[in-house]
Amino acid sequence: MAAIHQQVKETYHQLFGSDTDSILSVSPGRVNIIGEHTDYNGGFVLPASINKAVYLAIGWRNDDEVHLYAKDLDEKFSTTISVIQPGAHKEWPAYIVGSAAQFMKKGFALKGFNAVLSSDVPIGAGLSSSAAVECAVVFAINELLNAKLDRIEMLKMAQKAEHEYAGVMCGIMDQFASMMGKKNNVLKLDCRSLEFEYVPFEPAGYKILLLNTNVKHSLASSEYNTRRMECEQAVQWVKEQEPQVNSLRDIDMAMLQKYVLPKSELIFRRSSFVVNENERLHSVCRHLQSGNIAAMGKQMYAAHADISANYEVSCKELDWLVNYVKPHTSVAGARMMGGGFGGCTINIVKEEAIDALVQNIQPAYREAMNLDLSYYIASIDDGTHLM
Ligand code: GLA
Repeated sequence: MAAIHQQVKETYHQLFGSDTDSILSVSPGRVNIIGEHTDYNGGFVLPASINKAVYLAIGWRNDDEVHLYAKDLDEKFSTTISVIQPGAHKEWPAYIVGSAAQFMKKGFALKGFNAVLSSDVPIGAGLSSSAAVECAVVFAINELLNAKLDRIEMLKMAQKAEHEYAGVMCGIMDQFASMMGKKNNVLKLDCRSLEFEYVPFEPAGYKILLLNTNVKHSLASSEYNTRRMECEQAVQWVKEQEPQVNSLRDIDMAMLQKYVLPKSELIFRRSSFVVNENERLHSVCRHLQSGNIAAMGKQMYAAHADISANYEVSCKELDWLVNYVKPHTSVAGARMMGGGFGGCTINIVKEEAIDALVQNIQPAYREAMNLDLSYYIASIDDGTHLM
């Protein structure tokens, strides 16, 4: 079978005729080694773009119509530029028109366009397929308009599309990872300043194994926004006594114990997870640099225990997967990844042990959860680019 990018080009050609004025952008999904729910708290994350991506063929039209085709879903969608606005579109077209709309907000005049979309980033698996779509669209339209925006500006536009058109008040991690990723490196990103560095990630003999629960509990987006508010509440209580504080980044455990715990045990648990998660991330970076994979993995297990017990965005399927692999010496570390309530666990596994592990865990998961388990071996690849 032809590669996805060829299929997308061919489909574009069949649907919209000559493809001379069309371009093809590719934007990957992401993994995150550690640093969950820290991005919207001004903290650090450690993501990487992977070898699964969204492919978008796109070209101008001579009117103001927008014609979209999602190849994998075999769904068409049409609208006109003049009616694009938040709330007026849903599902996959919302990500595309919402991303295009960001250019109009910046004062660019937009013509109509045709686009064909295909992807091998599994949807609802916590690998940020939506951020990948947004980045692919923004990157491509920047090119078509010759707008010369830099990547940081573009990834912020992609994030705005998610806020305004999907209604999820996500942090910056997913769009940053998709747009800025670099082969064989993770990004150590300071989500407050957006300063970042590439940290080589090639743990000798280990691979990244993603185990997909194949569940996405409906709580995911409402609880996400609730967690944001709970964290803001903690900051507000500390700030009443310590006015210099602006985010959980500026807060330590002593402050939480003094100002938050007496007011709410729940808010204390939420915010203490975030404070500890940042600490764990820094220690993972140190272990990565010294090549201590076992110590890195321990931090991942600790992160999972904390996010499950105190941030409460895990679910029984994710907990089951992490508990299953934990006694296996071939698995250095594992934890739930992304927003939570389903999706994947990320596992750092000795390469030679992967086959046996998958063969054993699949039937066990089916037996325990009555669900199929899918898996992907992710390698770290470059971020958004044209093909
Ligand atoms: C989702 C959001 C990200 C981040 C993670 C949790 O993936 O889109 O911004 O908050 O959840 O770490």
